[in-house]
Amino acid sequence: MEQPLIRKNISLLRYNTFGVVVTAEYFATIHTSDDLYALKETGATAEHALLIIGKGSNILFTEDFHGLVLHNRIEGIRMIEKTGDEVILETGSGVEWDSFVGYCVEHRYYGTENLSLIPGTAGAAAVQNIGAYGVEAADIILSVTGIDLHTGEKKSFTNKACRFGYRHSLFKTPALRSFFITSVRFRLSLQPRLNLSYPQLVRETEHVSHPDILDVREAVMRVRRSKLPDPEQTGNAGSFFKNPLVSKEKWETLLADYPDMPWHALPGDRFKIPAAWLIEQCGWKGKQTGPCATWHRQPLVIVNLGHATGKEILDFSRAIQKSVYERFAVFLEPEVLIL
Ligand code: EPU
Repeated sequence: MEQPLIRKNISLLRYNTFGVVVTAEYFATIHTSDDLYALKETGATAEHALLIIGKGSNILFTEDFHGLVLHNRIEGIRMIEKTGDEVILETGSGVEWDSFVGYCVEHRYYGTENLSLIPGTAGAAAVQNIGAYGVEAADIILSVTGIDLHTGEKKSFTNKACRFGYRHSLFKTPALRSFFITSVRFRLSLQPRLNLSYPQLVRETEHVSHPDILDVREAVMRVRRSKLPDPEQTGNAGSFFKNPLVSKEKWETLLADYPDMPWHALPGDRFKIPAAWLIEQCGWKGKQTGPCATWHRQPLVIVNLGHATGKEILDFSRAIQKSVYERFAVFLEPEVLIL
């Protein structure tokens, strides 16, 4: 028997990588744009609070979700255009991000390889502007298309219109909460152009005389596997906080007190300080409180060691925030969506 479009009281355990036990009041799996139009016709998208999820790899649920969860399963990768130097690919927004990267690497389409093994979907990659090892999704996204679930209007946004920033985009703003991304277009290079600017990648590829795209993917995978917990085995949502950006004055004050502090200069006299360093300095690296801990190789990642509730994880994260604030007067902004 075919499943009804909307189901009630569904466990979200399989739909959040933190592995928190919560339920969704209403739940629908979306395979196509037609599913979205059908859903709108039921009136449910106007009636309920909406939450669009892909792999649930950047969410912390602190309570049951009172509303309608839309699980994105829109699949498909297709070629739109191929010119001498470039290829334009369109992915369904529910395509698993790393399988898209694998596809691109296999076909020698350059641009995604540094973003290997990031959990999540292609749609979430755009929302979140995922980034790693010197590359962010914004560098390769051409446009984003979706449907407004309140009006039924289909809309496309150019890269510029997406207003990408550090782990930020237009799609994170309240005005776009009812916008369901259906597909993302990527502009990738056919010319071998590798980004090995990140010191860890340089080290990992040193033994290869002419690293190619596959060497880069494998190097990124090795680095990630050595530093980050596998969400299949240990509940987590990647970096829990963003790396804070501070003013020049603040950076000078911090450096005067902590000359060994790592930092990275950004345009506009802003300085990025690694949150992992701030957290480690406060003694939180590998520290456990009940079922919550920071990862022993990367304290920016909070892990669920057993049956932690979302509230326990939230309290743990707040304790870290408080220590960092008390010591450095720097506020760590969560990177995960806390609901
Ligand atoms: N550091 C420490 N102690 C540690 C680990 C790191 O002091 O235990 C310091 C070091 O100075 C290190 C610096 O933090 O040089 C940066 O560490 P790392 O290269 O591991 O990266 P990150 O800034 O902590 C960011 C992203 C990651 C991404 C990596 C690699 C954010 C919030 N996180 O982490 O993204 O994989 O760079 O490019 O920007 C994610 O968003 O979920 C994520 C994992």
